[in-house]
Amino acid sequence: MVMEKKDEEESTYLKGVRNLCESGTKKLPRKYILPVPERPLQSKSPSARFKLPTIDFSQLQDSNGRPHALRSLSRACQEYGFFQIVNHGIPSESLLSLLSSARRFFELSCEEREKYMSNDIRAPVRYGTSFNQLQDGVFFWRDFLKLSCHPLLTFLPFWPSSPPQLREEAMSYAKQSKALFLVLMEAILETLGIGLSVLKELKEGTHMMVINCFPPCPEPDLTLGMPPHSDYGFLTILLQDKVKGLQVQCGDDWITVDPVANSLFVNVGDHLEIFSNGRYKSVLHRVLVNSSKSRNSIASVHSLPFDSIVRPSPELVKENQRLYKDTDFASFLNYMTTHETNQKHFLESRKVANMSPDSQ
Ligand code: OGA
Ligand code: NI
Repeated sequence: MVMEKKDEEESTYLKGVRNLCESGTKKLPRKYILPVPERPLQSKSPSARFKLPTIDFSQLQDSNGRPHALRSLSRACQEYGFFQIVNHGIPSESLLSLLSSARRFFELSCEEREKYMSNDIRAPVRYGTSFNQLQDGVFFWRDFLKLSCHPLLTFLPFWPSSPPQLREEAMSYAKQSKALFLVLMEAILETLGIGLSVLKELKEGTHMMVINCFPPCPEPDLTLGMPPHSDYGFLTILLQDKVKGLQVQCGDDWITVDPVANSLFVNVGDHLEIFSNGRYKSVLHRVLVNSSKSRNSIASVHSLPFDSIVRPSPELVKENQRLYKDTDFASFLNYMTTHETNQKHFLESRKVANMSPDSQ
């Protein structure tokens, strides 16, 4: 009997936090309460006001402005692992309209959203909750819709057909985000002083669009929307609405990223850390929730094709020692089904220092 009740609770949690909110939950269920050391310390704010590194995208494409923009880009990737881009050329109305369609997806009935629920982490469209729901002991206050975006025409028919504009707007944004990614990567390769050959592969690379929803939370100090984690790809390009929540790690501080209208936030992922042989570090980030406002964000994670090997660029290993083992997307997904993927656990497992004699 007791067991049945527990199973029933588990299946409620798997339906996500929007459903909990809709059922009138006023107190944070135990399932979401983090151990004290992992809770956000909302009162501790960084001593100095932090200025987010900013890259003017239009400068990057202008021969006069490019050298300066490349220097800023190199510094941002090396010192912080993140930056925001402005003047990216995507009209602000289309970004706002996509965010609003994303919000409306999570407002659909539970039955409609459940159609896309899947335990298969390889599914081309997947609605789910928490961070890594197969592994999380404590759940996180987040629901998501993950859309595979490359090749676009293969996956498009699987994307939700409701709300009506979502498919069209997400498709258009997917193309724009991919184009931004390729221009940024070309510039990053230039800052690393290496050839452009990987660009051809990146053009055909995986692209995942993760639409996140963080509903208001009854006790936001006891939980998180996402735990500290790094992203697996080369770069993540994040579109967020006006509500604060994202924090990035900078030294010993957690810096809150103030959403700036019409900007996009970019962070270095594990694959770029590996590819640059450690010169550019993937950054730990997490998401805070709040008690009054729902927050939406759209993370576009770009990398190499699914079956490609990710390895330090040979041009960067010549003088330096090679710091990371070969990896690929499939090993990341396998890791995800069997390990906790918060912190930088996966990347740590790829470091040469951790190489066992038989895994070379
Ligand atoms: C992610 C992520 C941050 C945010 O989806 O990997 O870190 O602010 N999102 O939603
Ligand atoms: Ni992330």
